[in-house]
Amino acid sequence: MKQGHSLFVTGTDTGIGKTMITACLTALLARCEYDAVPYKPIQSGGIRMGDTLIAEDVAFYQSIHPLPYGQDELCTYCMEPAVSPHLAAQQTKVFIDPDCIARQLQILRKNHDFVVVEGAGGLAVPLYESEQGIYMTDDLITHLHLPLLLVTHPGLGTINHTVLTVKYAQAHGIPILGFIVNYMPQQPNSMERDNVRMISELTGLPVLGSFPQITDTAPEALRMQLDELRTHINLALLLERLEQAEAELLQIKRMEE
Ligand SMILES: Nc1ncnc2c1ncn2[C@@H]1O[C@H](COP(=O)(O)OP(=O)(O)O)[C@@H](O)[C@H]1O
Ligand SMILES: [Mg+2]
Repeated sequence: MKQGHSLFVTGTDTGIGKTMITACLTALLARCEYDAVPYKPIQSGGIRMGDTLIAEDVAFYQSIHPLPYGQDELCTYCMEPAVSPHLAAQQTKVFIDPDCIARQLQILRKNHDFVVVEGAGGLAVPLYESEQGIYMTDDLITHLHLPLLLVTHPGLGTINHTVLTVKYAQAHGIPILGFIVNYMPQQPNSMERDNVRMISELTGLPVLGSFPQITDTAPEALRMQLDELRTHINLALLLERLEQAEAELLQIKRMEE
């Protein structure tokens, strides 16, 4: 019987390292005997190769950890324009159906201990427009009943970016497990150290990991560094926070039914 845990990886911005963290977290969980897989429901900026579109994030996951799936199972909507999903969907006439994403996530959860879901961009990202209004990333997260793992950075501006993202998630009733601070220098300066302290103080949320600035991000080099990277993520605390959030989300789900 698989455990079916799941969480949603978001970031303070696009390019913050969500794919890096999703891929490495999946691989690190697998090293702790969890059968973990990543899932990217919506990818814009797909790379055209003849008749097919390559979801770059999925290709990266596959290069870091062997996965028993092809792209179709790990990415439900891959669109070519490198713009916000709502615009990519409009331009390519794709109809994004949150229930289709929920069904695929359910299949993965049934068959694996852990599904690490990666969002597109940050949290306040429109996914599609309809007569009912604008469907946002936070609507999808609420629909999927997932807690958030927030990838952030230690540099200038992070206090503002991180606190705004946390407040936005909280305003939409989404539980947050904590932060992974990406691009952490080996020897952080006083500002970087204080930034990390301050985002935790201001939000009351734990730092679950400080992921280092990596010199060689080629997949083969990264695979060699996984044991080292494992020391930078507090998996025990992440799992503890996840169990609490899952209990909270289960209650919400029961009240909705
Ligand atoms: N800790 C890190 N050290 C060095 N490069 C990184 C690190 N995290 C991410 N990157 C690089 O930064 C770029 C953006 O990261 P990515 O994970 O794709 O971000 P996102 O998924 O949030 O858009 C990629 O080229 C990735 O290899
Ligand atoms: Mg990504």
